[in-house]
Amino acid sequence: MVHADASNFDAGVTKEEAYEQVLLQAEGLFYDQPNWVCNLSNAASLLWHAYKSLPAPSKDVNWAGFYVLDSSSSSPQLILGPFQGKVACQTIRFGRGVCGTAAETQVTQLVDDVEKFPGHIACDGDSKSEIVVPIVVENQETGEKKTVAIIDVDCAELNGFDDVDKTNLEALARLLAKSCDWNRL
Ligand code: SME
Repeated sequence: MVHADASNFDAGVTKEEAYEQVLLQAEGLFYDQPNWVCNLSNAASLLWHAYKSLPAPSKDVNWAGFYVLDSSSSSPQLILGPFQGKVACQTIRFGRGVCGTAAETQVTQLVDDVEKFPGHIACDGDSKSEIVVPIVVENQETGEKKTVAIIDVDCAELNGFDDVDKTNLEALARLLAKSCDWNRL
């Protein structure tokens, strides 16, 4: 049964343990639930509360959420999805900023200092570092790999993210890719 306790993280957990809980709870919440709005919303909550339970720099995460493929646009573009944090840019073209780069290249972007990322889009001046992980779905018949969404997490400190974040957010991206019905974007 869905319960708010899923977002409660014990004081003193390590980042590895927090992500383990995020992934375990996400798997339970996504079971039998293909709606992406619903699943991305719960995933944003899990991530936000996980970061807030951790020491710096993770506790200084100031934005955690998603952009999804904007199906109403004729050119490839992302549109703001479920998130936790301050209001953010509504649309981002593929190839633009950290999010658009991850969407276009289908490669995780781990940015230690956003000032050094050419074309970084500053939605919130507090953000100093950022990680963006593409959510990619493969067409079983054609083998075509399509970016359907991206996970975006910003931190108000430099060097906010490392390989533990990358590995676990990539696992979350794979879980979301297979759990949601992305044909109904
Ligand atoms: N900084 C991102 C834009 C999205 S916000 O961080 C929420 C970028 O450069 O794509």
